[in-house]
Amino acid sequence: MKLLIIGNGGREHAIAWKVAQSPLVEIVYCAPGNGGTHVEDKCKNIKIYTTDELLDFAKKEEIDLTIVGPEANLVVGIVDAFKAEGLKIFGPAKGAARLEGSKSYSKDFMKKYGVRTAAYEVFEEIETAIGYLKTCEFPIVIKADGLAAGKGVVISQSFAEAENTLKEFMVVDIFQGSGKKVVIEEFLDGVEASILSITDGKVIIPFLSSKDHKCIFDGDLGPNTGGMGAVAPNPYCNEEVLKVFNDEILTATLRGIQEENMDYCGIIFFGIMITKKGTYLLEYNVRMGDPETQVVLPLMENDFVELILAAIDGKLSETKVTFKARNACCVVGASMGYPAPYPTGLPITIGEVSGKVFIAGGEIKGEEIVTSGGRVLTTVALGETLQEAIDKAYKDLKHVHFEGMYFRKDIGKIKELP
Ligand SMILES: Nc1ncnc2c1ncn2[C@@H]1O[C@H](COP(=O)(O)OP(=O)(O)O)[C@@H](O)[C@H]1O
Ligand SMILES: [Mg+2]
Repeated sequence: MKLLIIGNGGREHAIAWKVAQSPLVEIVYCAPGNGGTHVEDKCKNIKIYTTDELLDFAKKEEIDLTIVGPEANLVVGIVDAFKAEGLKIFGPAKGAARLEGSKSYSKDFMKKYGVRTAAYEVFEEIETAIGYLKTCEFPIVIKADGLAAGKGVVISQSFAEAENTLKEFMVVDIFQGSGKKVVIEEFLDGVEASILSITDGKVIIPFLSSKDHKCIFDGDLGPNTGGMGAVAPNPYCNEEVLKVFNDEILTATLRGIQEENMDYCGIIFFGIMITKKGTYLLEYNVRMGDPETQVVLPLMENDFVELILAAIDGKLSETKVTFKARNACCVVGASMGYPAPYPTGLPITIGEVSGKVFIAGGEIKGEEIVTSGGRVLTTVALGETLQEAIDKAYKDLKHVHFEGMYFRKDIGKIKELP
C-alpha cells in the first residue's frame, strides 16, 4: 500500500514510524513531514500543503490510504474532499470535526447527550458576558470558541483578569475571529488524562490512557505549551475512573455521534479531568494528541494500518485493540525560550539511544538536521515500571543535543489529587 500522512510534528513522525512497520505498507509519503520522517524507514517527505495539492497528489500517486494528523485540515473538510473523489482517508468529516473546531458546539453536544462536563454558558456579546462574570465564582475558565492553536483557554483568578481576557478575545480579537464567541466554564480542580480512541461511528474503542504535561516549568508551573512530555498508561486512570469514563462519557458520546448522523471514522480523543467529586469531559479532539501519540503508539500491539482499515470498513466491533503491559515515557527537548520566541536553525545531534527519538520541530538542511520549532524532539522509552520508562527516556535525552535544549525534569511524577 501507498500511504499519505498529513502533518509535520512529532505526532506525525510517530504515526509514520508505526505504520511503516506494517507489512502491508510499501511507502509512506509525509506531507510535509519533518527531519525525522525524512530518515524514517519507507518514508518520503513531500512539500505539499493545501487540500487541493494533497488531493491532486493522492489521485496522481494512487494513494491507498491517507491519515490526517492536524485538526486544522479536518476542520476545513479535507475528509469530505477526499471521499468525494473516492479516496480512502482516515478522519472525521467536516461536520463531525466541529466537536473540536467549536467549543460551544461540543459543549452543547455534551449537554444534549448527557456527557458529564463542567457547567458553562456561551456568549457572543461582551456586555452580556461581563454581566454574567459578575455572578461567577473564581477561578473561572474562558474559552475561545474556534481553533486557537492551543492558546484559546485562559483560567482567570479574578473578575478583573477575566474581564480583560474577554476583551482580548472578543474586542481586540487576538484570535482573528476564533474568540469572538466564547464559552465561560466552571473551573474544575483535578488531574487530567487523555484517552485517544478509535471509532467507525458504530463503536468507540479506547486506547491506553495517557497523561501529558502542558506547562513549561517543573511542578506544572508557567505558561502552557503544546506538551512537554507524556506517560502511558496514565497513573490516575484506575479501574474506577475508566468505568465512569466508559459509562458516563464514551457511551453517551457514541449515542450522540449516531443520533446526529455524524460521518465519523477516525480518532476521537477525550480530554478528561479526574477530580475528587468525579470525572468530567473537558473536551474532544478529533485527531491524535501530541505528545500522547508518541507514548501510546509504541505500546500498541496491533498493526495500526490494519486497525485503520477495519475502522474504514466499519468492522471495529470485530476488532480487538491490545497494548503491551508496559509503561512508556517521552520527554520533550524544546528550544530555549519556548513557548515565547526562540532561535531556529541550530544543528541537532543524536547519539546512541536505547529507545526512540521522534522529531517534532527539526528539518533537514543540506546534510544535517537543524531545529525549526519550539518543541524540537522527544526521547521515548518503554519500561516494566513507570519509573524505569522515565529513567530510560531521561538517560536517552543525555545523548541528544542542540544549543540551549530545555526540558522538564519531572515528567511522569505523580502528585496527590487536589
Ligand atoms: N473547566 C476547566 N477547569 C479547569 N481547567 C480547565 C478547564 N477547561 C480547560 N482547562 C484547562 O485548560 C486546558 C485547555 O483546555 P481545553 O478545553 O483542552 O482546550 P484546548 O486544548 O483546545 O486549548 C486543559 O487541558 C486544562 O488544563
Ligand atoms: Mg486540550
